[in-house]
Amino acid sequence: MKTLTKNNISIKKQQVKDFIKINLPLSLVNSKEVNSYFEPLIQQFIPQWTNHRFRAKILSVVRISHNVIALTLQPSKKWSGFLPGQFIELTTHQNGAAFTRCFSISSAPRLWEKDNKIELTIREQNNGKVTPWLINGLKAGEYTQISAAKGDFTLTDRPNHKVLIAAGTGITPIKSMLGSLKYERHDSSIDLIYFARDEHLFQEELTTLASHSHLKNHAKINVHFINSKSQGRFSIDMLRQICPTFIDSEFFICGPAQMITDTRQALIKEGVSQQHILQEFFSAHSTQPDLKDIQISNTELGNVQFIKNAMPTDVSATPKTTLLELAEAAQLNPNYGCRMGVCHQCKCTKKSGITLNTTTGQISDTGEEEIQLCVSLPVGDVQVEI
Ligand code: FES
Repeated sequence: MKTLTKNNISIKKQQVKDFIKINLPLSLVNSKEVNSYFEPLIQQFIPQWTNHRFRAKILSVVRISHNVIALTLQPSKKWSGFLPGQFIELTTHQNGAAFTRCFSISSAPRLWEKDNKIELTIREQNNGKVTPWLINGLKAGEYTQISAAKGDFTLTDRPNHKVLIAAGTGITPIKSMLGSLKYERHDSSIDLIYFARDEHLFQEELTTLASHSHLKNHAKINVHFINSKSQGRFSIDMLRQICPTFIDSEFFICGPAQMITDTRQALIKEGVSQQHILQEFFSAHSTQPDLKDIQISNTELGNVQFIKNAMPTDVSATPKTTLLELAEAAQLNPNYGCRMGVCHQCKCTKKSGITLNTTTGQISDTGEEEIQLCVSLPVGDVQVEI
């Protein structure tokens, strides 16, 4: 046990004073919950302690290509595990500000159950604020914060043939799904169609997984690596060549928003039931919602009043600009995480006016209600408390 000397104690006191000076005001500004105010202070003494989130130790950061890292984490014991295909929110701090991003877990649950570890695969996003920092800034031995596992992009027990379609880092939740099948008896057969422009992540691992699956009583996995530069994008003709009888198959799609939308539309047009198509946007999703189909005429653009700590700030709405972007442009530093309507971290109260939810296409009522800033467009004058 370490003995505290007088010198140690006064250094510690000074550290705490400095810490309170720097972090407590930030906490007070950024969080509405009393417990959160004291979180940075308590973590000076107990690094694992956190409010609502789970501390996770970074065990290793391994670069697996020039812009992709594999991150191995050891979540605290209170973390309750995950289903293959689910994601977590990872929160990091840069210069005192918290940033949160969603990442699918790429390892199979077995690694968590056996060794208390999970793996994330993170690709640097162009123009991203957070992923370049994660790639270069995360260090083994440090702690980060994660949420409970979330999401319903998980394999079903139905015996139908399954088609998993991934593009780019959209392979990560699918790798977790396929890895989990290695340990279970499963009657269904699976085709993985994996698109990538330059490199297919986990190519060797997936190929081995597929060949082993044909030797055992597990789901039979066939992998099809498609170079989207030379072989093109998903098409029904391509699907027909891989699995001619796909109408009753279940589809699991993960990749960029446009790829998901196009693939989904093509499948539905061909007669695949919507109930048999599940998709996940996280891994390679751009940080902005897709607003190209949303038409807001100039007459519907009004004034947005943000109220923060009882102080009003007036902003003029601009076309196709979400309330999150408007608040950020006004330097109001609203909370956010995924920026795509999933994590609910940007949730706040619209006091009055009408907003359009870009993910559901729904127009709100004029009264007070909770909205998500990142997927809401103002329609006319709106007042929002953030
Ligand atoms: S930032 Fe995640 S829902 Fe808005």
